Amino acid sequence: MTIAIGSDHNGVALKEALKQGALQGHIVRDFGVFTSESVDYPDIAFAVARAVASGECERGILICGTGIGMSIAANKVQGIRAAACSDVYSAKMSRRDNDANILCLGGRVVGPGLAAEIVTVWLNEPFAGGRHARRLEKIHAQEGQR
Ligand code: RB5
Repeated sequence: MTIAIGSDHNGVALKEALKQGALQGHIVRDFGVFTSESVDYPDIAFAVARAVASGECERGILICGTGIGMSIAANKVQGIRAAACSDVYSAKMSRRDNDANILCLGGRVVGPGLAAEIVTVWLNEPFAGGRHARRLEKIHAQEGQR
Protein backbone atom coordinates (compact mmCIF):
# COMPACT_ATOMS: atom_id res chain seq x y z
CA MET A 1 0.00 0.00 0.00
CA THR A 2 1.19 3.55 -0.68
CA ILE A 3 0.95 5.54 2.52
CA ALA A 4 1.41 9.28 3.05
CA ILE A 5 2.72 10.11 6.51
CA GLY A 6 3.36 13.37 8.28
CA SER A 7 3.75 14.84 11.71
CA ASP A 8 4.35 18.06 13.55
CA HIS A 9 7.21 18.39 16.05
CA ASN A 10 5.28 16.36 18.64
CA GLY A 11 5.00 13.36 16.34
CA VAL A 12 8.47 13.07 14.79
CA ALA A 13 9.67 10.28 17.09
CA LEU A 14 6.52 8.18 16.64
CA LYS A 15 6.59 8.74 12.87
CA GLU A 16 10.13 7.41 12.69
CA ALA A 17 9.24 4.43 14.92
CA LEU A 18 6.32 3.50 12.64
CA LYS A 19 8.48 3.81 9.52
CA GLN A 20 11.03 1.45 11.07
CA GLY A 21 8.35 -0.97 12.28
CA ALA A 22 4.65 -1.29 11.39
CA LEU A 23 5.03 0.39 7.98
CA GLN A 24 7.83 -1.85 6.74
CA GLY A 25 6.77 -3.47 3.47
CA HIS A 26 4.63 -0.50 2.45
CA ILE A 27 5.59 2.36 0.16
CA VAL A 28 5.82 5.37 2.48
CA ARG A 29 5.82 8.99 1.31
CA ASP A 30 7.04 11.13 4.20
CA PHE A 31 5.76 14.72 4.16
CA GLY A 32 7.84 15.69 7.21
CA VAL A 33 8.65 17.15 9.62
CA PHE A 34 12.05 15.78 10.55
CA THR A 35 13.15 17.89 13.52
CA SER A 36 11.75 19.01 16.88
CA GLU A 37 11.51 22.62 15.70
CA SER A 38 7.97 23.89 16.30
CA VAL A 39 5.72 23.94 13.21
CA ASP A 40 2.01 24.46 12.49
CA TYR A 41 0.26 21.09 12.17
CA PRO A 42 -2.31 22.24 9.54
CA ASP A 43 0.49 22.68 6.98
CA ILE A 44 1.42 19.00 7.27
CA ALA A 45 -2.19 17.83 7.58
CA PHE A 46 -3.19 19.51 4.30
CA ALA A 47 -0.17 18.12 2.41
CA VAL A 48 -0.95 14.55 3.47
CA ALA A 49 -4.70 14.98 3.01
CA ARG A 50 -4.24 16.29 -0.53
CA ALA A 51 -1.99 13.33 -1.38
CA VAL A 52 -4.73 10.96 -0.25
CA ALA A 53 -7.66 12.89 -1.75
CA SER A 54 -5.91 13.06 -5.14
CA GLY A 55 -5.31 9.29 -5.16
CA GLU A 56 -1.53 9.75 -5.17
CA CYS A 57 -1.48 7.76 -1.90
CA GLU A 58 -4.06 5.18 -0.80
CA ARG A 59 -4.01 6.06 2.90
CA GLY A 60 -2.53 8.65 5.23
CA ILE A 61 -1.19 8.73 8.75
CA LEU A 62 -0.86 12.02 10.66
CA ILE A 63 0.70 12.51 14.06
CA CYS A 64 0.64 15.54 16.33
CA GLY A 65 0.54 15.79 20.12
CA THR A 66 -2.97 14.40 20.46
CA GLY A 67 -4.01 13.54 16.89
CA ILE A 68 -6.93 15.92 17.30
CA GLY A 69 -5.59 19.00 15.52
CA MET A 70 -4.42 16.89 12.60
CA SER A 71 -7.85 15.25 12.27
CA ILE A 72 -9.71 18.56 12.40
CA ALA A 73 -7.46 20.01 9.69
CA ALA A 74 -7.38 16.93 7.43
CA ASN A 75 -11.17 16.63 7.49
CA LYS A 76 -11.42 20.06 5.81
CA VAL A 77 -10.05 18.53 2.60
CA GLN A 78 -12.75 17.16 0.31
CA GLY A 79 -12.90 13.38 0.25
CA ILE A 80 -10.99 12.91 3.50
CA ARG A 81 -12.29 10.83 6.38
CA ALA A 82 -9.70 11.27 9.11
CA ALA A 83 -10.09 9.50 12.45
CA ALA A 84 -8.11 10.25 15.60
CA CYS A 85 -7.68 6.93 17.39
CA SER A 86 -5.84 5.97 20.55
CA ASP A 87 -7.11 2.39 20.87
CA VAL A 88 -7.23 -0.64 18.60
CA TYR A 89 -11.03 -1.05 18.62
CA SER A 90 -11.71 2.52 17.47
CA ALA A 91 -9.09 2.17 14.75
CA LYS A 92 -10.69 -1.04 13.50
CA MET A 93 -14.17 0.46 13.49
CA SER A 94 -12.95 3.64 11.78
CA ARG A 95 -12.14 1.42 8.83
CA ARG A 96 -15.11 -0.98 9.03
CA ASP A 97 -17.87 1.60 9.51
CA ASN A 98 -16.31 4.90 8.42
CA ASP A 99 -13.88 3.87 5.68
CA ALA A 100 -11.36 6.23 7.29
CA ASN A 101 -8.62 7.08 4.79
CA ILE A 102 -6.42 8.93 7.26
CA LEU A 103 -5.44 7.72 10.73
CA CYS A 104 -4.44 10.40 13.23
CA LEU A 105 -2.35 9.51 16.26
CA GLY A 106 -1.20 11.42 19.31
CA GLY A 107 2.52 11.27 19.85
CA ARG A 108 1.89 12.35 23.45
CA VAL A 109 -0.98 9.89 23.90
CA VAL A 110 0.08 6.49 22.57
CA GLY A 111 3.43 4.77 22.93
CA PRO A 112 5.20 3.14 19.98
CA GLY A 113 3.98 -0.39 20.82
CA LEU A 114 0.30 0.51 20.95
CA ALA A 115 0.67 2.79 17.93
CA ALA A 116 2.13 -0.10 15.91
CA GLU A 117 -0.85 -2.32 16.82
CA ILE A 118 -3.31 0.44 15.93
CA VAL A 119 -1.63 1.04 12.57
CA THR A 120 -1.47 -2.66 11.67
CA VAL A 121 -5.14 -3.22 12.45
CA TRP A 122 -6.15 0.00 10.67
CA LEU A 123 -4.24 -0.90 7.51
CA ASN A 124 -5.74 -4.39 7.31
CA GLU A 125 -9.39 -3.86 8.24
CA PRO A 126 -11.72 -3.62 5.20
CA PHE A 127 -14.68 -1.23 4.86
CA ALA A 128 -17.98 -3.03 5.45
CA GLY A 129 -19.93 -0.98 2.87
CA GLY A 130 -23.73 -1.42 2.68
CA ARG A 131 -25.60 0.94 5.00
CA HIS A 132 -22.30 2.50 6.01
CA ALA A 133 -21.66 3.61 2.44
CA ARG A 134 -25.03 5.39 2.42
CA ARG A 135 -24.07 7.26 5.58
CA LEU A 136 -20.73 8.31 4.14
CA GLU A 137 -22.49 9.58 1.01
CA LYS A 138 -24.57 11.81 3.27
CA ILE A 139 -21.42 13.16 4.92
CA HIS A 140 -19.73 13.89 1.60
CA ALA A 141 -22.89 15.52 0.22
CA GLN A 142 -22.44 18.13 2.96
CA GLU A 143 -18.93 19.06 1.78
CA GLY A 144 -18.75 22.59 0.43
CA GLN A 145 -22.18 23.44 1.87
CA ARG A 146 -22.98 25.54 4.95
C1 RB5 B 1 1.17 21.68 19.10
O1 RB5 B 1 1.52 22.45 20.16
C2 RB5 B 1 -0.03 20.82 19.44
O2 RB5 B 1 -1.14 21.66 19.55
C3 RB5 B 1 -0.21 19.76 18.37
O3 RB5 B 1 0.87 18.88 18.42
C4 RB5 B 1 -1.46 18.91 18.47
O4 RB5 B 1 -1.54 18.27 19.70
C5 RB5 B 1 -2.71 19.57 18.09
O5 RB5 B 1 -3.79 19.01 18.15
